[in-house]
Amino acid sequence: MRFIKISIQLFFIFSYLSSNIVSAKTKVSKLVCEYKINPIGIDIERPRFSWQILSEESNIKQIAYEIRVADSRNNFNNRNNIIWSSGRVISDQSVNIDYQGLLLKSIQRAYWQVRIWDNNHNVTLWSEPAFWETGILDNKLWTASWICMKNEKKTTISQPCKYFRKEFMTSKKVSSARVYVTSLGLYQLFLNGNKIGNDLFTPGWTSYKKRLQYQTYDVSTMLKHKNTISAIVGDGWFLGNISGQGRSYYGDQLALLALLKINYTDGTSESIVTDNNWKVSYGPILESDIYNGEKYDARLEMNGWSANSFDDSKWQNVDILEHTKNILIASQGEPVQIISEIIPKKVITTPKGETVLDMGQNMVGWIRLKIKGEKGDELNIQFAEVLDKDGNFYTDNLRKAKATDIYILKGTEEEIFEPHFTFHGFRYLKIIGLRYKPQIGQVAGMVIHTKMAPTGTFSCSDSLINKLQHNIQWGQKGNFLDVPTDCPQRDERLGWTGDAQVFSMTAAFNFNVAAFYTKWLKDLSADQGSDGKVTNVVPDLSNGEGGATAWADAAIIIPWTLYRTYGDKRILKEQYSSMKAWIEFMNLRAGDDYLWIGDPHFGDWLAFNSNSPDYSGAFTEKDLIANAYNYYSTNLFGKIASIIGQTNDALKYQQIATKIKKAFIAEFTTPNGRLISHTQTAYALALSFGLLPDEMIPKSSKFFADDVNKFKHLTTGFVGTPLLCSSLSSIGRDDLAFMLLTRKEYPSWLYPVTQGATTIWERWDGQKPDRTFQTTDMNSFNHYAYGAIGEWLYSYVAGISIDPENPGYKHILFNPHPGGGLKNAKAEFKSMYGLVKSAWRFNGDNFVYEIEIPSNTTATVTLPQAKSDYQIINLLTLKPEMRKLMEQNTYGIRLKLGSGKYQFSYPAKY
Ligand code: BGC
Repeated sequence: MRFIKISIQLFFIFSYLSSNIVSAKTKVSKLVCEYKINPIGIDIERPRFSWQILSEESNIKQIAYEIRVADSRNNFNNRNNIIWSSGRVISDQSVNIDYQGLLLKSIQRAYWQVRIWDNNHNVTLWSEPAFWETGILDNKLWTASWICMKNEKKTTISQPCKYFRKEFMTSKKVSSARVYVTSLGLYQLFLNGNKIGNDLFTPGWTSYKKRLQYQTYDVSTMLKHKNTISAIVGDGWFLGNISGQGRSYYGDQLALLALLKINYTDGTSESIVTDNNWKVSYGPILESDIYNGEKYDARLEMNGWSANSFDDSKWQNVDILEHTKNILIASQGEPVQIISEIIPKKVITTPKGETVLDMGQNMVGWIRLKIKGEKGDELNIQFAEVLDKDGNFYTDNLRKAKATDIYILKGTEEEIFEPHFTFHGFRYLKIIGLRYKPQIGQVAGMVIHTKMAPTGTFSCSDSLINKLQHNIQWGQKGNFLDVPTDCPQRDERLGWTGDAQVFSMTAAFNFNVAAFYTKWLKDLSADQGSDGKVTNVVPDLSNGEGGATAWADAAIIIPWTLYRTYGDKRILKEQYSSMKAWIEFMNLRAGDDYLWIGDPHFGDWLAFNSNSPDYSGAFTEKDLIANAYNYYSTNLFGKIASIIGQTNDALKYQQIATKIKKAFIAEFTTPNGRLISHTQTAYALALSFGLLPDEMIPKSSKFFADDVNKFKHLTTGFVGTPLLCSSLSSIGRDDLAFMLLTRKEYPSWLYPVTQGATTIWERWDGQKPDRTFQTTDMNSFNHYAYGAIGEWLYSYVAGISIDPENPGYKHILFNPHPGGGLKNAKAEFKSMYGLVKSAWRFNGDNFVYEIEIPSNTTATVTLPQAKSDYQIINLLTLKPEMRKLMEQNTYGIRLKLGSGKYQFSYPAKY
């Protein structure tokens, strides 16, 4: 018999040999508080601390930590300055540790640092100090008043934006200054002519009648002796067109609320607040609407309006608006900002003779335009996602959204235009009214989205799959604009819960979404009906309409995603009553027989063949989906209850789940394992959610596989697609999953890629092979839902997955699934503990697998196709205590490993 050898090389083999580690080799860094670096203006009473342990050593674990919090950066050694010290806590927890000291007051900064002891009994140095600062915790401190323009009337058309200003003097030397600001509508705030901060679309979109965020900015260095504070306020989500509701869904008066708190070096302080000393005026922004765009007349510009000594004598005095301040909350999410700029790829002349610029990427934001022209020239800048079959500019799929920015020139040298409170989803644009052909250098695409830290990358040897991953990430960028939206271009752009739910795990691989979803979940619960019904869109825009299966389950699944990805237990606690209310709602609808029958749902939305007028994937019965989800969510809720120590609920809901499962089996399956809706979606649901009795699984799996084989393509919609490949993998049919993934013809993930897509399409056949379009009433080219395949790429193809018993990547499961003819695949994920890497490649007959496990985590690694016979040789390079942990399973060899970088190489054939 041929003697085959697996070599396992430890990159840090030397470190294994040395038993004593000097503390300098291990250090604590990347301190975050509530997922943010040095946040200011937060209103969380007990913020949570996380850090990473960087070490050159392998197998590093934290065995104890000590945190200390002081009132100044340089006084950690003075007892009088210490606000809280955790003492030495024996624990391996390094993520999301609660601050347990005295509660901070409003506008108070606290510094913190941490040191740890590792499993080699070394203590690190104290980390560099980090800080957090509270916002306004006591509403009485809001001494500012809501200010607005007098006599504003409710209108059906967009009104000019309001410009507010006030001049003031500082009386002494400033030591620090913060401004706390929000608006009814969207605001941009300026101090002495400069915009404060880079944030856009502030104060963000929340359920405005119940929750309104304010932002906090450090303006200490912006103040002078003589100052002007000013703001522009536009309609935005608050007052502009939204959904099918028209204008003024939340109110019909724009208003501003600002409090500038200045501390002087002599210990005194002063506040400048919005009050009736402010002035207000219209300005050059004549119209501003998220769907329709902005109309800006540069002839009306008021030079110097936001700086000192501007003559505002013709401006009106403001009115004070009576509006509650009890709904004010600190910013919870991350801000929207300009994240990148892209330059157009080419200028096209269409068959209709129009000049169109192609950005080369379906993007979300706007263009910055540099132009010259005559005073009064009117430019219409129009945006489109796609060209039609003849190559002409196509906007029918935007429905009623005009998506047009209008700029009227003032006729000076070079003019530069960027809109303020609107965004467009586009790849192409045309400029009507320009006296000359636009040049590439005149246009820059400003890509905006919520500033989430990128965390994940996936790549492999197939360039089309890499393009798919690119499209998934761009789909996320374009649709993570303060809330998770279905699409960014047509007259919709809403927080559809179903889309958010199915995409959430993929989203959490690509970017850090902890703060983003935490904020949105609070709106989900705020808008939830008293009967527990979760609204279809969050923030709600249809007066409580909701309760749709797989959509409303966002209430359970997204907190679970955050728990899985970040080990965040607090979100489970905070969302607990919202989750429970949704579960109760479903259980009540199901009644005594545990069957939820006959309610309206969206079903397997937009499944293959679900053409107009029924988009709901009619081949999979809605009732089957509803009961599958009722089981899944109820069971998950039982688990969540047990995680957070609600033992009675844990038992109760696990028992209910068992009954739902029994009822499901009786109602929706035959004894032979066939589902009454004989569809891929039905099998994917039943298998992924664990709805089938063990003995039925092989039979149902066969029906499932046969169906995939019969069609040779997917037939699934929003509900089935996200589960399709993972459920095929779970029944040992990676071959079929890869067949679906690598298929290039319609319907498939790669079909749009072959058609030049740069984002994920809403429909499998948004643009058909003959280049004609699907129906105009629902055909977005930037809809992330089908991008949910990303989760399978990361966790199965590349092999990084989460251990549900040890969430947040505390224990990582590495389990790559090579296949589909891929020569290599690689994923990297920046976890809360540090970088997780999984990369495999074929090198001749050898399978080479490299992984990276961050300090203070452990991993179970499956080496696919490796055989236990080889162990004898492997073990020579592994520490003795690891030998016991090796085991063989049908898939390969399983190892348990500590932190470090490892490479494995052994013969394997695929
Ligand atoms: C949205 C979807 C959403 C659906 C509800 C559509 O208009 O674009 O993505 O989930 O309605 O079925």
